[in-house]
Amino acid sequence: MIISTLILLFILMVLLCLYMSRNYTYWKKKGVPFLKPIPLFGNFLDVFLWRKSIGDKLREMYENTVHPYIGFFILDEPILMINDLNLIEHIFIKDFTNFKDRVPVIDPNIDSLGNKMLFFQKSQSWFTGRKRLSPSFTLAKMRSKFERMKSCTKSMENWMRKSSKSHENIFEVKTLFAKFTVDVLSTSFYSIETNSFEQEDSPFVELTRSIANWQNIWHAIQVTYLFLAPHFTRILKLKIINEANTVFFRNLAWDLMNEREKLNIKMNDLVDTLLDTKKNENIQNKYSEEADLLAGLVVTAFVASFETTSTTMTFALYELAKNPEAQQLAREEILRIKNRDGDITYANLNQLKYLQGCIHEAMRLYPVLPFLDRTCTETYKLPGTDVILEKGQKVYFPVMGLHYDSKYYPNPTKFNPERYEDEEVQERFNICFLPFGLGPRACPGKTFAQITMKICIANILTNFKVELSKKHQEPLKINRIGFMMQPDSGVFLKFIEI
Ligand code: HEM
Repeated sequence: MIISTLILLFILMVLLCLYMSRNYTYWKKKGVPFLKPIPLFGNFLDVFLWRKSIGDKLREMYENTVHPYIGFFILDEPILMINDLNLIEHIFIKDFTNFKDRVPVIDPNIDSLGNKMLFFQKSQSWFTGRKRLSPSFTLAKMRSKFERMKSCTKSMENWMRKSSKSHENIFEVKTLFAKFTVDVLSTSFYSIETNSFEQEDSPFVELTRSIANWQNIWHAIQVTYLFLAPHFTRILKLKIINEANTVFFRNLAWDLMNEREKLNIKMNDLVDTLLDTKKNENIQNKYSEEADLLAGLVVTAFVASFETTSTTMTFALYELAKNPEAQQLAREEILRIKNRDGDITYANLNQLKYLQGCIHEAMRLYPVLPFLDRTCTETYKLPGTDVILEKGQKVYFPVMGLHYDSKYYPNPTKFNPERYEDEEVQERFNICFLPFGLGPRACPGKTFAQITMKICIANILTNFKVELSKKHQEPLKINRIGFMMQPDSGVFLKFIEI
């Protein structure tokens, strides 16, 4: 009995391996250089075992090849990685119409709200959604929100001063910046004051913990597998927004709109956009499919900005704590402008060039999205080659590989904010500096994020000297789970009042 069971299992295993290997000649047949896969996992066993993050794996593949593009396999699926700047420019910008979509697929029956997030939307619904969201990011809007955003830095500073004794001057910066970011985005997009520093049990702070909880292994698996194995979305019931958060965001969207309608005022924010859409499309029922378009805009603004901005600021302040000379130069620049103009304003923010360089370096060394992806939406001939990419072909871009390539960034592991000073050099960086992506699907929140990060760090450097604390563990470990770049545990820095 045992022997026949073992034989049966063995046969099933062989059949499974044969089935999963059926595509492994795909790149060879197309004449594309490729990495030799192993049965079942393709080239991503390290990633499935969480020995490497997706970003690190693609960086390793980039560093070990001389080819402008290279084929590989995730499980049974052939994927193409593009390494060459000219091809990258074609796919993201010049030939965008052939690559309108990202890889992950979210099933509306499994995750009705995640499916409405702009990041995951496809072709036409993406186009409509992007058009709806864009007015929230005009320069005039940014300018009108500036003072409100700056008042959030003051709340953070006050709280830090008040709590520094009980914290022995040591704060975990990811938590600190999570609260700050929630306050900034709530006041900017929804015109509500979340007061995260004073209100420990704020539902928004709770929300941030549940959305970006990479310690919850099932959550991490779900979010990562949307990229690794989107064709398993339905079987594994993969989702990005859980039921509790779906209810929270739906209620938030409708409470905001009801309140605003009652007061009959315009606040020049995302809620105005929701109300316009509601009116134009005659949406009345909170639980209809169309109503989730509105809640989807609320989720998009929250989820896309919260984790990315707070994490980037964490890495930037960590590097400034490790590089006291750069920290002092950034501080002197801020003080010079403050002394000249009386304060940091929307108008002089652009003059904080050195600080900008520090933030750019943090984004180069730690891009929160360490790889980018596109799906071929129309058959495409790769320029300068005979390679035809079929509709549906998934293409990955090794952001970390490019950011650490000494061809573009001499001495790439060094934190060097001066790299960005020369404008000619900046031109060259257009394609190989990808923290916000590229082309029509690049991050629409780039300017908002840059303003947020600059005013926050400028405030900290004006008021505190920042050092690595005794609670901090060097070298900083990066989380290998999940698709975003994150510190593995807390980043504890010491803040000495100046
Ligand atoms: C430091 C902060 C941020 C970083 C590093 C960042 C990075 C990125 C990246 C790499 C992408 C993908 C781009 C591509 O595929 O070409 C993206 C997309 C996106 N980001 Fe950001 N982001 C940040 C902040 C924000 C903020 C504040 C918002 C505001 C709502 C936002 C909204 C979005 C949206 C909606 C998308 C999807 C765009 C589309 O598919 O059309 N991001 N972001």
